[in-house]
Amino acid sequence: MSRKAETSTPINDVLANRWSPRAYNGEAVDAATLAKLFEAARWAASGFNRQPWRYLVASRNEKAEFDRIVACLGEFNQVWAKNAGALVIVTTLSSDEDGKPKPMAKYNAGLATAQLVLEAHANGLHCRQMGGINRDAIRAEFNVPENADVIVCIAIGYAAPAETLSERNYEKEIAPRVRKPLSEIVFSGDWGKAADLS
Ligand SMILES: Cc1cc2nc3c(=O)[nH]c(=O)nc-3n(C[C@H](O)[C@H](O)[C@H](O)COP(=O)(O)O)c2cc1C
Repeated sequence: MSRKAETSTPINDVLANRWSPRAYNGEAVDAATLAKLFEAARWAASGFNRQPWRYLVASRNEKAEFDRIVACLGEFNQVWAKNAGALVIVTTLSSDEDGKPKPMAKYNAGLATAQLVLEAHANGLHCRQMGGINRDAIRAEFNVPENADVIVCIAIGYAAPAETLSERNYEKEIAPRVRKPLSEIVFSGDWGKAADLS
């Protein structure tokens, strides 16, 4: 199903075509494909080239590992994410070895993860990121160190028809994709004064 964005001006196809389904067909994402996605993340820009992102991955091929991650998701995410082909927990090193905070750590991890997601879409996969996760459970289950923040989990996989979802999620899956206008997010001169991009 194409859910191409209705953009106000043309943008690159891989960006316009990216969207986040909840419906996945249960096919596993293999290791070689996952390697491509992490390689894309690896080459993201980061402050001082520190590369603070750390990922915990489980393909559906490793069912026991996959289920350990599923168990740490919010219930409303578990119902659909259990059909993904792989799950990836995104963490970032938010302080250094001396405990000094690294305020850009989450920004850097977000940039790297955007690259991962776009590489996935360019390879015929889809992703849906989830903030609805149990971060304490993830920290305990996977021995995430104190100086790492658990940010999101990403469901990655091959999309299935929206009809495979529950009625509630089906309605959300087919709802129009909407965004704030540029005038609300790009200012010039003063805060709140829309930039003239015409
Ligand atoms: C940081 C973040 C957290 C999100 N958390 C959830 C979540 O817990 N459950 C869910 O179903 N979708 C979640 N989403 C998906 C967003 O709702 C989705 O990306 C947004 O509605 C825009 O849709 P699109 O990605 O198809 O353009 C999250 C996305 C991001 C980036």
